[in-house]
Amino acid sequence: MSKRVLNGMRATGKLHLGNYLGSAKGMIELQDDHDFETFYMVADLHGLTTPYDKDLFAQNTRNVIIDYLSCGIDPSKSVLFVQSHVPQHAEFSFFCASTLTVARCSHLPTYKEKVKQYPKHVTMAMLNYPTLMASDILLYKADFVPVGLDQEPHMEITREVAKRFNNEYGMDFREPQRFITKGQYIPSLTGEGKMSKSVEGSYISLTDDLETIQKKIRSVETATTSGGEMSPSVKTLFVLLELLAPNELMKFKTAYENRTLKFVELKDALSEAIYAELKPIQEKRREIEIDSAYVDKVIKEGAEKAREIAQQTVAEVKQKMGLLVSN
Ligand code: TRP
Repeated sequence: MSKRVLNGMRATGKLHLGNYLGSAKGMIELQDDHDFETFYMVADLHGLTTPYDKDLFAQNTRNVIIDYLSCGIDPSKSVLFVQSHVPQHAEFSFFCASTLTVARCSHLPTYKEKVKQYPKHVTMAMLNYPTLMASDILLYKADFVPVGLDQEPHMEITREVAKRFNNEYGMDFREPQRFITKGQYIPSLTGEGKMSKSVEGSYISLTDDLETIQKKIRSVETATTSGGEMSPSVKTLFVLLELLAPNELMKFKTAYENRTLKFVELKDALSEAIYAELKPIQEKRREIEIDSAYVDKVIKEGAEKAREIAQQTVAEVKQKMGLLVSN
């Protein structure tokens, strides 16, 4: 039987190179692999766990769909949908919540960070972030979740919820595992942390043209001479080079070690390689953007397919948990 994969994408603005190399590309590989059945969802409800702008929210959600379609998510191979269009996510999250203690959720490092970040918005929704994520994953009885290491605490919670449902109510949830895809960690252009939308100068947008890419890459800090231990930002350049122009890696690495590397040459080769990767995505995006009927159809059909499965799980859970079943 094929294994199920579920991923949730937060709608935090347009995708950047880090999201693409770190997750979208891996998601596309999985969708093309017949061993996997792939479910990709825009986690809009998770956006309500921290302050958000209601006027931009719907458009942001739609943009994520457009971004992923442009990158190559194929709705005939993957179930691509919006979380809030499948009401069972919210519904089932309540059942999941009944298996988790407040203490367990309030000690999560991800929760503590958010409390620090938004001290005036410590809502029940914020506390229930992992509950909702467990619901997302278990609704589809997913085996694998292609997320980064930062999501591991949420995966642990999800496995705990699965075990409780299995032990106490006789459900047959699998214990989902984090799935590592190639090129997962994409460092920031600043050399500090990972490429992130919230850090100016840290990322390349998927919509950047060659000139913009060159400008951004050229401004990555490098020493005047090469050789010796690499600074974090020089390491970033090599990481990107390895992912995008592996054939050129040895040449530049050797030059670096021999102290003959001209950084501008490495930077321009890298910029070209990044642009070569992004160009087809940008072309596809231009096509999709003007075809709103197509986007509408994808969103509608994705929700229908997802709902079909989610409904079954919730019906099963309700019955096994002892709720009065209505026919
Ligand atoms: N928490 C995930 C993140 O911040 C987003 C997410 C929500 C998710 N629901 C999910 C990821 C379900 C995987 C599966 O990236």
